Amino acid sequence: MSFLSRATVWDADGPNHVIRGNNLPVITALPDESFDLIYIDPPFNTGRTQVRKAMKNEHVEGGSRIGFAGKPYETVKLSAYKYNDTFGDFWEFLEPRLEQAWRLLAPHGTLYVHLDYREVHYAKVLLDALFGRECFLNEIIWAYDYGGKAQNKWPAKHDTILVYVKDPDNYYFDNATVDREPYMAPGLVTPEKAERGKLPTDVWWHTIVSPTGKEKTGYPTQKPEGILRRIIQASSAPGAWVLDFFAGSGTTGAVAASLDRRFVLVDENPESIAVIKKRFASAGITAHFSTSRKK
Ligand SMILES: C[S@@+](CC[C@H](N)C(=O)[O-])C[C@H]1O[C@@H](n2cnc3c(N)ncnc32)[C@H](O)[C@@H]1O
Repeated sequence: MSFLSRATVWDADGPNHVIRGNNLPVITALPDESFDLIYIDPPFNTGRTQVRKAMKNEHVEGGSRIGFAGKPYETVKLSAYKYNDTFGDFWEFLEPRLEQAWRLLAPHGTLYVHLDYREVHYAKVLLDALFGRECFLNEIIWAYDYGGKAQNKWPAKHDTILVYVKDPDNYYFDNATVDREPYMAPGLVTPEKAERGKLPTDVWWHTIVSPTGKEKTGYPTQKPEGILRRIIQASSAPGAWVLDFFAGSGTTGAVAASLDRRFVLVDENPESIAVIKKRFASAGITAHFSTSRKK
């Protein structure tokens, strides 16, 4: 039992919550070990690369400028080094939120962190330090095939989802309930097996949210329900509490509700909350909506 503010009471026996606000103070107010499953899909770090140049004036025979003691000088470039403008900020931003995720996970709980090729290796190092390497469960590759394709390199058409458990000796995992996939070579297995399909591996081929499909909410970074369905089915039991503190269009809440799990969603963007309200209203999903003013 805990409370976030007078207006936002979260209780393990209470309703689903959608909270508008900066997620760090919101999740910091939630009680330890309250969530069976946490899924986060933070904004990726796509910051521009800055180039800094260091210069020095040097005495050079035949230099183009006459300087001290009438000698010829030239301005020479010492170095040019690149750094990613937003890199430091991104990890400063994400680290305390990942620490909270660890605190909020139930002893048998699982964390899914959805990133892409630009940041995932840094996240792996950080999460290994936070959770312990032995708590790393999987690196899921979500492969899709949509949109423009680079001609000067292999087109990047996958996201990466890192999976960590709080306790490697005692965590919830039930892949028997997830959707199965067609065998690549169905002729090599019995007709019964081919009919049943195979269990998914850590590489998931799944289309993006179709621009014309009924799942589409219009929120730019919306993830497919099929991806969240597998995650929630495998890593939480019916009745479990699921947390997503980068909620976006509310995919996690919509899928959790459809599978009889309960949820807390947090997003600071008013447009996200408006999309979630509309999405839940048309799906008949109920939740308590509130706003946190803490910075
Ligand atoms: C990549 S989107 C999530 C998309 C979501 N998985 C879906 O399926 O729609 C990331 C979200 O994080 C939210 N966000 C970014 N920084 C935040 C913060 N400090 N507190 C709360 N939400 C934040 C953004 O508003 C955005 O909606």
